[in-house]
Amino acid sequence: MAELKRRVAVLISGRGSNLGALIEAARHPAYPAELALVLSNRADAAGLERARAAGIPTAVVESRPFGRDRAGFEAAMGARLAEARIELIALAGFMRVLTEDFVTAWSGRMLNIHPSLLPAFPGLDTHARAIAAGVRLHGCTVHFVTPGVDEGPVIAQSAVPVLPGDDEAALAARVLAEEHRLYPAALAWAASGAARLEGGRAVVEATMAEGALANPLPGLPALPTEMP
Ligand code: GRF
Repeated sequence: MAELKRRVAVLISGRGSNLGALIEAARHPAYPAELALVLSNRADAAGLERARAAGIPTAVVESRPFGRDRAGFEAAMGARLAEARIELIALAGFMRVLTEDFVTAWSGRMLNIHPSLLPAFPGLDTHARAIAAGVRLHGCTVHFVTPGVDEGPVIAQSAVPVLPGDDEAALAARVLAEEHRLYPAALAWAASGAARLEGGRAVVEATMAEGALANPLPGLPALPTEMP
């Protein structure tokens, strides 16, 4: 019988709180994706423990020994993805820049979450830069991955206010809570075909209404909005 759920690999390098949100969401029987693999480029990534605790297969492909051989690293990673019959990749705090070849091979099938309202503040240290720039709104973005870092077509965004007196940690926490709501919804849309990459643009049939974040697909039980 054909598998109804898309087989997703979550790629991480660190703490894995977004992974935790995806794990919680994927527990719902109606969620259209199965987390079939959690792959880390660091053996010490704390997120690996979350995956193991949830009974999800894990793989470690250390990037460090490959040095500048990014294609070699990706070939090793690709072998693990193929073994696990992965159909969709969700980058969640994966701190390696991928080659154009790898990104092209996964075009329309790889998502990333970024802690800013792209195209504002691509790259690192987004919260400190938002505070320094004096913006009143900040947030997070889930996008299809294209070769330009943090440049891919936007699937979904969530905004939060920047409040007087915010420091980097306070703002980061406010954004992270939204990341944990947004990513499970956006991954559900991509896995169900409601979000697609077409002609270089993201076509999204779902809506960004508040209810859509809680219930990203008709018939899908409300996703938890509070994450540990
Ligand atoms: C998140 O802020 C995400 O937007 C960025 O990296 C961070 C990962 O955090 N890409 P976590 O590992 O999911 O807790």
